[in-house]
Amino acid sequence: MNWIVVVLAILIGSVSIFYTRGLVQELREREEILINLFAKTLENTSNSPNAAEVTFEVREILLPNNLIPVIWTDDEGTLMGFKNVEIDPAWSDTERNEFLRAEIEEMRADNDPITITFRDEDGEIIDYQYVYYKNSDLLKKLEYYPYVQLSIIFLFGLFVFVAFTYSKASEQNRVWVGLAKETAHQLGTPISSLIAWIEYLKSDEKFQNSEIVDELQKDIERLDMITNRFSNIGSVPVLTHEDIPATISSTVEYLKKRISKKVEFNVHAKPYNLRARINKPLFDWVIENLCKNAVDSMGGIGKIDINIKKGLDDNVIVDLSDTGKGIPKSRLRDVFAPGYTTKKRGWGLGLTLVKRIIDNYHDGKIIVLSSEIDKGTTFRIFLKA
Ligand SMILES: Nc1ncnc2c1ncn2[C@@H]1O[C@H](COP(=O)(O)OP(=O)(O)OP(=O)(O)O)[C@@H](O)[C@H]1O
Ligand SMILES: [Mg+2]
Repeated sequence: MNWIVVVLAILIGSVSIFYTRGLVQELREREEILINLFAKTLENTSNSPNAAEVTFEVREILLPNNLIPVIWTDDEGTLMGFKNVEIDPAWSDTERNEFLRAEIEEMRADNDPITITFRDEDGEIIDYQYVYYKNSDLLKKLEYYPYVQLSIIFLFGLFVFVAFTYSKASEQNRVWVGLAKETAHQLGTPISSLIAWIEYLKSDEKFQNSEIVDELQKDIERLDMITNRFSNIGSVPVLTHEDIPATISSTVEYLKKRISKKVEFNVHAKPYNLRARINKPLFDWVIENLCKNAVDSMGGIGKIDINIKKGLDDNVIVDLSDTGKGIPKSRLRDVFAPGYTTKKRGWGLGLTLVKRIIDNYHDGKIIVLSSEIDKGTTFRIFLKA
């Protein structure tokens, strides 16, 4: 879709420039014809008895219509006359002449002067004159016109694009934030009631030291954690300096209990103790989502390596690699898009959320560092120190 717009824009631009070029060329030819006509008339003045009349017509009717500036001189450079050159009436003669000379230089750079030859009755050359001219303002304006027009169209397009992207992004933001807030809010009530029930059960002798209560307690803690995540997404999350390897290790420990024993986890950190600013509940969510995707891609058997190291400016880099089925090159751009999934029961929201959390809430970056079909995938996270 985007490239169609670009191609169309280039096409319109080229047609417009091409068309005006044609117009300019045509106008230039016409101006040349006129100026030659003018020169010829001047030349004939000395011989033909009617010439004065013709000169008058050319000077007063043809040239003003096209506003071609002309100045003519004799062969010694003495000014003989001019037309369509703007002169300040307040100027003295010297000032005016100086201006006209400068003007002649400019015209000479534009076009070669037309030479007029004067002859006596016997056809002997008695005098030369030179007609200097430059193209009319109209022609000059027309030459620049397509560029002015294209710049305006380009700026307008840019403006529309920016405004549109911005409004789309801010609308998406509102949906995310609103939905997350609402979810956290709705979960809050049953959870507090469950907590109360647990306390009640604990006080009952029948359930003292019972496994049921312990398991219930764990589930409630999990629900509480989920609520906490949603409420963090729905507000401006607080970032704190955390030990990244320790945070990731504890998330991994937690996940290990919940997934297939055939997945081997390795967490490396060099140097240890790397700290970055994160919101812990949200960052845990990121690691959990990435690990879940990794486990899915390996069909529950394989290795997940998490490498934590120092990046530029004390930033922290987290590389998470799996030995799964990989992402096809053509799909690399899609994985972060909402709704993109290759799973039967997937929502295609996991990586969208991960990207939002890293980009918007941590001012960081997440990319697919590398991916090879049937070898594995590595995601890289950049975190600000
Ligand atoms: N580690 C990975 N290896 C291979 N493919 C992956 C990996 N991570 C993500 N993908 C691909 O990207 C898609 C999108 O992932 P995402 O986490 O956004 O959604 P999902 O896992 O399909 O669904 P859910 O919303 O439940 O997380 C996946 O369906 C999968 O095709
Ligand atoms: Mg997922």
